[in-house]
Amino acid sequence: MLIAGNWKMNSDHTSARLLASAVVSAVGDPMQVHVAVCPPFVNLDATFDVLHGTPIRLGAQNMHEEDAGAFTGEVSASMLRAVGCYYVILGHSERRQYFGESDAGVNRKIIQSQSHSLVPIVCVGETLDEREAGRAVDVVSSQVSSALEGVTLVSADRLVIAYEPIWAIGTGKTASPEEAQDMHAIIRSLLVSQFGDDFGTAVNILYGGSMKPDNAASLLEKKDVDGGLIGGASLKAEEFAKIVRVAQETA
Ligand code: PGA
Repeated sequence: MLIAGNWKMNSDHTSARLLASAVVSAVGDPMQVHVAVCPPFVNLDATFDVLHGTPIRLGAQNMHEEDAGAFTGEVSASMLRAVGCYYVILGHSERRQYFGESDAGVNRKIIQSQSHSLVPIVCVGETLDEREAGRAVDVVSSQVSSALEGVTLVSADRLVIAYEPIWAIGTGKTASPEEAQDMHAIIRSLLVSQFGDDFGTAVNILYGGSMKPDNAASLLEKKDVDGGLIGGASLKAEEFAKIVRVAQETA
């Protein structure tokens, strides 16, 4: 089980420290649940200062697929490792939608992140139009297959998938627990066919899209929902910690 907070383009150097400290105290000992926060690049360092020595891990929200070079404005996997990142979110729908990220690019980033010992949190999800047209399963399956092409695993905890229906992100609408479970089961079967039973059944598949303390239990108790990628509710330490507690109860 993993509960990860995606702070998106929120916080500054000072407020990131304050939020990270508040998360550390509100979460306390997360026990069997893994917990991470993903601040903007410029606040990674300050956040790591606070998280260092606590059970809460650091993640980034994106990275470039190359090691170094003439890529103005970009950040590499080794830079993320150097500031203490454990996870990196890749292929978030906002990256795909606003910054033109493609399945092939996401695939290259996953391979690069793993070669630098980062754990990618790979986001997939359909739009409302795609769901209404009955294409959600096709879209998500194809995103998962392209993202994972040529990816290998040394252990199941080196990869995380996040199913985030785009129509549920930041909208207050969530997929019903059944809709989430159905899609997670499809993703699970793709993971099993690529990585085999042992790894495929053990990779964490998170749900993301308006997960809050009051709807977390019904989602997290589903068989193939192994955690959450939390946007809005991760900006309030108490709300985020409540979701972690729900995860502990359902784990
Ligand atoms: P939300 O965002 O929880 O605010 O819907 C989730 C995400 O985009 O990862």
